[in-house]
Amino acid sequence: MNHIKSNTFEKNYYVNGQWKTAEKKAELYSPYTKEILAYIPQASRSEVEQAIDMAFDSREEMEKLTAYERASILEHIAQLFAENREKAAEIISLEAAKPMKFALGEIDRTIETYKFAAEEAKRITGEIIPMDAAKNGANRFGYTIEEPLGVIGAITPFNFPQNLVAHKVGPAIAAGNTIVLKPASQTPLSALFLAELIDQTALPKGAFNVITGSGKTVGDALVESNKVKMITFTGSPAVGIGIRERAGLKKVALELGSNAGLIIDKGVDLSQIVPKCIAGAFSNQGQVCISLQRTYVMEEVFDDFIEQFVEAAKKLIVGNPLDKNTDVSAMIHSAEQERALSWVEEAVENGAKVMTGGKIENDVFLPTILTNVSSNLNVSCQEVFAPIVIVNRISSIDKGIAEINDSKYGLQAGIFTNDIQTAFKASKKLQVGGVIINDVPTYRVDQMPYGGVKESGTGKEGVKYAIHEMTETKLVVWNQ
Ligand code: SIN
Repeated sequence: MNHIKSNTFEKNYYVNGQWKTAEKKAELYSPYTKEILAYIPQASRSEVEQAIDMAFDSREEMEKLTAYERASILEHIAQLFAENREKAAEIISLEAAKPMKFALGEIDRTIETYKFAAEEAKRITGEIIPMDAAKNGANRFGYTIEEPLGVIGAITPFNFPQNLVAHKVGPAIAAGNTIVLKPASQTPLSALFLAELIDQTALPKGAFNVITGSGKTVGDALVESNKVKMITFTGSPAVGIGIRERAGLKKVALELGSNAGLIIDKGVDLSQIVPKCIAGAFSNQGQVCISLQRTYVMEEVFDDFIEQFVEAAKKLIVGNPLDKNTDVSAMIHSAEQERALSWVEEAVENGAKVMTGGKIENDVFLPTILTNVSSNLNVSCQEVFAPIVIVNRISSIDKGIAEINDSKYGLQAGIFTNDIQTAFKASKKLQVGGVIINDVPTYRVDQMPYGGVKESGTGKEGVKYAIHEMTETKLVVWNQ
């Protein structure tokens, strides 16, 4: 792989198969060492509009590709990631401070996501409509076809800078769309690296473009352009709601936040559950939309659980994300760490107990477990997006379900129980997009439908489901 140029300090953005420079550049800092990693172009409104024009003009060429050709391109992207696994993970680790073990895990998932997209590209079908089921339908033959929308504007977050990009780019290519990608300001290097890989494939130039710059300039241009037919966004509820309000008749898919909850029933094997809760609460410093934030434990097992959970959290290795032994590193910005700390302080002032962590050491927010936390505090009812988990005692499963549902969010929830009736009840009553039985709410594989209710968003990801969002159903009726 001698074409990889990712170490270049001065970065360019990627439009119509060309690397372009912008007049303005901004410094990109490492969240961990605070050193400058690169200078990132800050595209102007007219530069974004040019990228949209290129994506718009390449629709026809993209639409001409057969399903076989689109699948081959996606397989090629997966193969290039496999060949560049360490390098792609290192870029994530550098720009997002994601510990290498999780960054490597993310690249493995990214490879799988593009492979799923390649498979799904071959399975995009319509259906035959039984026209003669209607009184006026005799002698008609009807069927549907799924057509690409055209230009997709993808706005992606910092927490999974390759795999959550793959969840938008993979389905868009599978369905025959063209893309303008705006990566999170903190994680442009991963998106630009993806452009380097895609540049080596047979994807028509102009079908995939990466524009870097401020959320306001780039995001607004995408949302306001009549040439963009869909915005797919993962990020904060405030920004997502703003996009929906301004998007007019565009399709909009929103993957927003959550304060994911878990119930632990009595009679379960805590030694199996505790490691899952550790991973669920602290992976990627808790900066995961389905990070375990609220844990409701039946009183019979509460004391044992909290003892084992705290002991395991204290063993986590905190430090440099590039060290393969590190479990927890710096959050994305110091300001975010300060915000999280103020929420812990608010909880403590209101009677919560810090069982471990609750402070920043060597610029890393330590894994934090709180007990006895009221449900009206920031740390409970807002998305914490930090390595903080609360553990409260419950006297019944119904109480746990009510606590989880008492939220403006509803992405995923989990329950550990040995009782089949309890599991069924929870799956029916929990007001979320996905109920995970006998695992943490953080569980996700990339082909499953993924998306929330309430302020957690609208529309589903998971490759097949995203393809559905990114196509338009066209009906054809023949009069025989
Ligand atoms: C997210 O933060 O929404 C993505 C979680 C995941 O893909 O595991």
